[in-house]
Amino acid sequence: QTSPMLADGTKITDLVMPATREVQMRVLSDPEIYDLEMERIFGKIWNFLGHESEIPDPGDFVVRDMGSDQVIISRDKAGEVHVMLNVCPHRGMRVSVLDGGNTQIHKCIYHGWAFRPNGDFIGAPVEKECMHGKMMCKEELGLKKARVTLYGGLIFATWNIEGPSFEEFLGDAKWYYDILFKRSDRGLEVLGPPQRFVVRANWKAAGEQSAADGFHTLTLHRWLGEVGNYAKKNDDGTSADLSPEMYGVEISSPHGHALRCIDLARKISRLTGLDPKELSVQQKLDALPPAGMHKDMVEQLARNLSPEQLQVLTTMPPQVGGIFPNVLFGFVYIPQPDGSVLGSLTLHAYVPRGPDKLEFVNWILAEKDAPQELRERILKQTIQLFGTSGMVEQDDSDTWPHMTLSAKGAMGKKQTLKYQAVYETGAPEGWPGPGMVNEGFTKDDTQWHWWMYWRELMTSEV
Ligand code: FES
Ligand code: FE
Repeated sequence: QTSPMLADGTKITDLVMPATREVQMRVLSDPEIYDLEMERIFGKIWNFLGHESEIPDPGDFVVRDMGSDQVIISRDKAGEVHVMLNVCPHRGMRVSVLDGGNTQIHKCIYHGWAFRPNGDFIGAPVEKECMHGKMMCKEELGLKKARVTLYGGLIFATWNIEGPSFEEFLGDAKWYYDILFKRSDRGLEVLGPPQRFVVRANWKAAGEQSAADGFHTLTLHRWLGEVGNYAKKNDDGTSADLSPEMYGVEISSPHGHALRCIDLARKISRLTGLDPKELSVQQKLDALPPAGMHKDMVEQLARNLSPEQLQVLTTMPPQVGGIFPNVLFGFVYIPQPDGSVLGSLTLHAYVPRGPDKLEFVNWILAEKDAPQELRERILKQTIQLFGTSGMVEQDDSDTWPHMTLSAKGAMGKKQTLKYQAVYETGAPEGWPGPGMVNEGFTKDDTQWHWWMYWRELMTSEV
């Protein structure tokens, strides 16, 4: 049974206040709340850990964090992907002390217990003398295994063996995510290992933003619209009003997932100078192929998506979104000096590393069928935009530590976060997709629904 109270008597339900759409600011720094999150959120949900193209061959493995635990993600001889706790069942040493590699035997450096890529116990040195088999049999001595699912090659795992399926966890959002992750014949793959860096911030400062926060773009990232290839100028050379770019459709889900879709016609006229009204669907896709995809691959879309999904992709394509609780994806168009447009595709995980520290893990992807020249450009330009010192991430990763510090102040921690921009528009006419859908200028709704699911998990029984 889950305790409904914090040690100081605060009810956990009161941390998120639906009547006024406020959140108590202490959630961004409180160690007690952090510890509960590791059990009640990261210990239960489906955690995003990587992409199967990172471990293409039998024996390949990478080591990642799943909430507060480290796990080994490996591929066995049969090609199956496994996720196992990186904790030796003998005396708790980390079985792998590497970031990744290839092996058929994971051998603990402490006393030499050895395990297969699927986590099964193989044996220990001088086994007969050390392991009489009187207490526990070999089957009981393997690594703790998580439940694993692959979705469009993305690897998710959960400790909640009996809990909801991955499809149930995604809920309404799956219809949209399929447009992004399951749209081509051969699927996506990573362009090299992910970049990793630590930000001195609570994971939720980044996590709630990952729920498709478009509101901050006009101010925090405003300079992107004022300089270089990104600039939008009036005829007299002054900076243009960028707010029309913020109109679109936002989708929330009861499970905290979110999407922000942007009017493709506006994008096309802004970025290519073409008049979208004069373009067929095919010409629109040629003008702006979906991120990570070459225009020769566009014909694959109709094979893999329903007509309704294709309608969304060719009128109001998802640009950014989040998978609850800590994954952000961006399918972003980058203008090029020659007037063309490059579609960049990136996935971030904001992995908790304590109440005031997160590890930012950044994967860059492309379609497997994309030509090498396109992949190189995607990799280079996505790193420039979203990497360790990327132009976008320098902005975002500046705010999260400040928010975390604010939440540590004696007075600051008594304040609330206020999600006051409310959609009242509903879905556009003829919108074919599911979920809580609203049209218009970006609001606080998707973040608010993120917090409501956080509240639900924090107060539900373990
Ligand atoms: Fe791993 Fe002893 S702790 S073999
Ligand atoms: Fe941002």
